[in-house]
Amino acid sequence: MARVHIKGRDGIELDIDALPGTALMDALRDANTGVEGTCGGMMSCGTCHVYVQADWLVRLPAKSQDEADMLEAIGEIVPVKPTSRLSCQIAMTEELSGLHLEIGPPT
Ligand code: FES
Repeated sequence: MARVHIKGRDGIELDIDALPGTALMDALRDANTGVEGTCGGMMSCGTCHVYVQADWLVRLPAKSQDEADMLEAIGEIVPVKPTSRLSCQIAMTEELSGLHLEIGPPT
């Protein structure tokens, strides 16, 4: 398991476990963090938006153009930052244990 440290929309911080080989979005959704993942990881809903702690960004796989386009689209309704990622596009690995992030606002 990979441990992920989360700051929720209510400001409360908690740790959850994510199964390596699955999408980060799945663990966030299953832990009732407010992440919905309504499109199932197809990059068409933006409900899995998170802000990754800056020092973890370089350890994540690079954003695809489709992910960047979806983030740009949700930027019309919520703040999108350089640290924004779609959690459905982050495949968990043991190496990502310790990842820190904040759940994005509802889209
Ligand atoms: S789950 Fe829909 S964009 Fe990530």
